[in-house]
Amino acid sequence: MAAAQPPTIPLLTPYKLGKFDLSHRIVLAPLTRQRSFGNVPQPHAILYYSQRTTEGGLLIAEATGISDTAQGYPETPGIWTKEQVEAWKPIVDAVHLKGGIFFCQIWHVGRVSNSGFQPNGQAPISSTDKPLTPQKRANGIDVAQFTPPRRLRTDEIPGIINDFRLAARNAVEAGFDGVEIHGAHGYLIDQFLKDQVNDRTDKYGGSLENRCRFALEVVEAVVNEIGADKVGIRLSPFAAYMESGDSDPNALGLHLVQSLNKYGILYCHMVEPRMKQVGEISQTFDSLQPMRKAFNGTFIVAGGYTREDGNKAVAENHADLVAYGRWFLANPDLPKRFELNAPLNKYNRDTFYIPDPVVGYTDYPFLETAN
Ligand SMILES: Cc1cc2nc3c(=O)[nH]c(=O)nc-3n(C[C@H](O)[C@H](O)[C@H](O)COP(=O)(O)O)c2cc1C
Repeated sequence: MAAAQPPTIPLLTPYKLGKFDLSHRIVLAPLTRQRSFGNVPQPHAILYYSQRTTEGGLLIAEATGISDTAQGYPETPGIWTKEQVEAWKPIVDAVHLKGGIFFCQIWHVGRVSNSGFQPNGQAPISSTDKPLTPQKRANGIDVAQFTPPRRLRTDEIPGIINDFRLAARNAVEAGFDGVEIHGAHGYLIDQFLKDQVNDRTDKYGGSLENRCRFALEVVEAVVNEIGADKVGIRLSPFAAYMESGDSDPNALGLHLVQSLNKYGILYCHMVEPRMKQVGEISQTFDSLQPMRKAFNGTFIVAGGYTREDGNKAVAENHADLVAYGRWFLANPDLPKRFELNAPLNKYNRDTFYIPDPVVGYTDYPFLETAN
């Protein structure tokens, strides 16, 4: 008699992501770690990313600035200079050596910045000139101060789109398999998308179509530069981080995915409605399902997922892939732990954003060495 087959774990089934053969569906979510001194990725990131690499696993790199106006946090990486591109190469190589697939999340913070991060101490740029109120930093103690932004003129917008295009080209030059355009969490693209922020009266503001124009022009430029099979986008229509809520997130999300279908991009990565605020899960009746159904490409979900509800999302076809942030941060061997249903290391919020090249970064234990 044949031995009973162990039950299939949906998250651990293979998936074909365009030309990439994934061996499982557990994705490393983009995680800012603020350890890229002077905006240059550092050698300690080689170990960090390679620890989280599996053969046939998809990793999304931390948010990476597209230009010298894109930064709003200390020590975040960029990809607009030759030095930055060269510094990414050994990190990407290490992921490839272990058989991983690695996308770079390309990012502009817009008004989530202050003049201290800007060239010549200028004001941050945005869709608007509405200032952000000071916000508590991740440690819950410090308060981030923002400089009132300068509203981009209509004729300046093609230049910013071009910065996204060049960053995508640089990412491919650095060896990345593709890019994820950061259209989520209240940063520049989201500042155009959301009606709580966007108060423009030109063709980039007002109607839903107009508010989506900037995002779609960025997508088009990046697709034309590196090919749709290498392009994903992250969106968070329901989130209200950094005062970027929308009065009709369902309509916004649906319009976006329907418009994205035109470009045939590889994937859409959506943040769950339950993640309305950073790091907090709230009750909601909203769902990503209408967007999942309307989008033709691969659909990745993120936000508060456990092993159990990630498996359920895949089993019920609510998503193709599930991205894990905090659990993957604290468990470099997360896919293995999910396979064995092993206990997880707890994450320590206090070390999420410290500059230490080891502590809270590469010192979370693997299963074999956990005690
Ligand atoms: C330390 C930290 C850094 C993050 N950095 C980014 C980022 O660079 N880009 C991004 O899109 N989301 C970022 N996020 C959000 C995560 O990608 C993810 O969506 C969020 O943590 C919810 O998923 P989780 O419940 O699995 O952690 C960050 C979250 C954390 C905790």
